[in-house]
Amino acid sequence: MTITDVNKAHLDEIATIENACFSLPWTLEQLEAQMRADNCIFIAAVNDDGALMGYIGLMFVLDEGYISNVAVAPDYRRRGVADALITELIERTKKRLSFLTLEVRESNLAAIRLYSKHGFEQVGKRKNYYDKPKEAALLMTLFFKKEE
Ligand SMILES: CC(C)(COP(=O)(O)OP(=O)(O)OC[C@H]1O[C@@H](n2cnc3c(N)ncnc32)[C@H](O)[C@@H]1OP(=O)(O)O)[C@@H](O)C(=O)NCCC(=O)NCCS
Repeated sequence: MTITDVNKAHLDEIATIENACFSLPWTLEQLEAQMRADNCIFIAAVNDDGALMGYIGLMFVLDEGYISNVAVAPDYRRRGVADALITELIERTKKRLSFLTLEVRESNLAAIRLYSKHGFEQVGKRKNYYDKPKEAALLMTLFFKKEE
């Protein structure tokens, strides 16, 4: 598996995974904007045959990092792809950001476990945050400890 910056050739496969995973998927235009933005990191996991297995996106504002989307194609789950993506994102950001944060559906135990495994803590909850279906979001944050 290789972790690489997303480029234009990846976007169709990412859109297919978005559509398979989310009831309100990002459009190709939104994905492309994230790829091009200077204040975003957008990385993907590609297998040895060149198939795109998963991706993670982050927007940063000053020293704050907001994870926008994380998904792994159904055929490639439970093989450490999301682990590898988050590990790479943390490596790329831990020196320059103070924290990474995200929202996750309260019922999404796979994702909640994934984030907890990487040190994210629940810091809040937003009622009725999601549509299709209506559901609360948990806010989870990973605080980077700064060396004095
Ligand atoms: C959540 C998701 C990204 C995990 O991807 P993945 O590549 O299968 O995850 P990994 O194999 O790297 O697993 C890493 C950790 O996540 C947790 N995890 C992943 N899938 C899980 C499942 N089905 N049940 C419980 N825990 C799970 C575990 O803690 C696991 O660590 P472990 O193997 O040491 O137990 C994937 O299930 C997915 O794309 N879901 C749909 C999209 C989504 O919900 N995205 C998150 C939106 S906030």
